[in-house]
Amino acid sequence: MTTKLEKCNEKSIAEAIELLKAGKIVALPTETVYGLAADAKNEDAVKEIFIAKGRPQDNPLIVHIATEKQLFEIAKEVPPKALSLAKEYWPGPLTMIFKKTDVIPDLTTGGLDSVAVRMPSNPVIREIIEKSGVMIAAPSANISGRPSGTTARDVFEDFDGKIPLVLDGGECKIGIESTVISFATEIPTLFRPGFVTAEELAEKLGEIKIADAVLKPLKSGERVQSPGMKYKHYSPKAEVKLVRGSEQFFDEFFAKNSGEKVFALCFDREKKQKNMLFYGARENLAEQAKNIFSKLRETDRLGAETVYVECPCDEGVGLATLNRLLRSAGFEVIEEE
Ligand code: TXA
Ligand code: MG
Repeated sequence: MTTKLEKCNEKSIAEAIELLKAGKIVALPTETVYGLAADAKNEDAVKEIFIAKGRPQDNPLIVHIATEKQLFEIAKEVPPKALSLAKEYWPGPLTMIFKKTDVIPDLTTGGLDSVAVRMPSNPVIREIIEKSGVMIAAPSANISGRPSGTTARDVFEDFDGKIPLVLDGGECKIGIESTVISFATEIPTLFRPGFVTAEELAEKLGEIKIADAVLKPLKSGERVQSPGMKYKHYSPKAEVKLVRGSEQFFDEFFAKNSGEKVFALCFDREKKQKNMLFYGARENLAEQAKNIFSKLRETDRLGAETVYVECPCDEGVGLATLNRLLRSAGFEVIEEE
């Protein structure tokens, strides 16, 4: 199959709509990361997503909607607290999980009786949902296990020859996937941290749980609440190692461990050593989140075998970046003594 890479315009958007209606899959921009989109109600189309990504069949997909009416079509119980979150954060980078109706097939939700729903703010995907009337199932547009794609080039690299169309809507504004919170649990539970922070959600909801798997590896045999938590994730080809400490500690550590194919991904600083890439100012947590996936992919293009990453903090949006990096590093952190 030849894969077309087209800038978003009236013609390419119309083409994407035709493909989606015909049960094909298309890569689309969202404000968080690119998505690999298909009609959420069409089982054959959804099957194609799992095949193209190499995604395990039990890992459910998020359904993207454009109206509140669509929410009530697919979610059985929407508690008032969730509705007020929707009012505040939708359209935007927040996914909420509810008990599901029969409108969305089990295949889309990995066999679960709940459904994850998000109303994205990116104008391209919104226009496509609105004009087509199709609710869109879309995981992040990356081969399973790789860093999520935040530019059309990233997506094209992973899916050239596998899907008919990649719509290029430029660089994603947020750069890290949506926050995922479940209302299908007794106490609202954060499954994946994101741009909408745990602190904000706790303040709005009164009480939330943070799933253990956000910062810790699963114990063997442990049951997971969100299947995505059990798979290896966000890994470039190189081995990622997290290093936590002061700027001086990182610089000395990297100087000692340098090598032709050894790279550093660190906060902006005055002195740049060879093979060092910056991913944002130490204090700018949103900038770090925005850059992390694209910089991990850049280390691949540079032929890195090992990447030492300066560890982000666990506050605010930092928790989202930390969560992704812990997974790509197998939860090991090299600490300053
Ligand atoms: O920002 C985003 O959320 C992007 C863009 C494209 O919207 N999408 C995305 O999808 O990140 P994906 O499939 O890569 O991640 C969805 C996560 C997975 O970890 C999955 O296991 C979890 O959400 N999930 C989806 N439905 C669920 C459900 N019903 N119960 C528990 N976890 C669920
Ligand atoms: Mg993903």
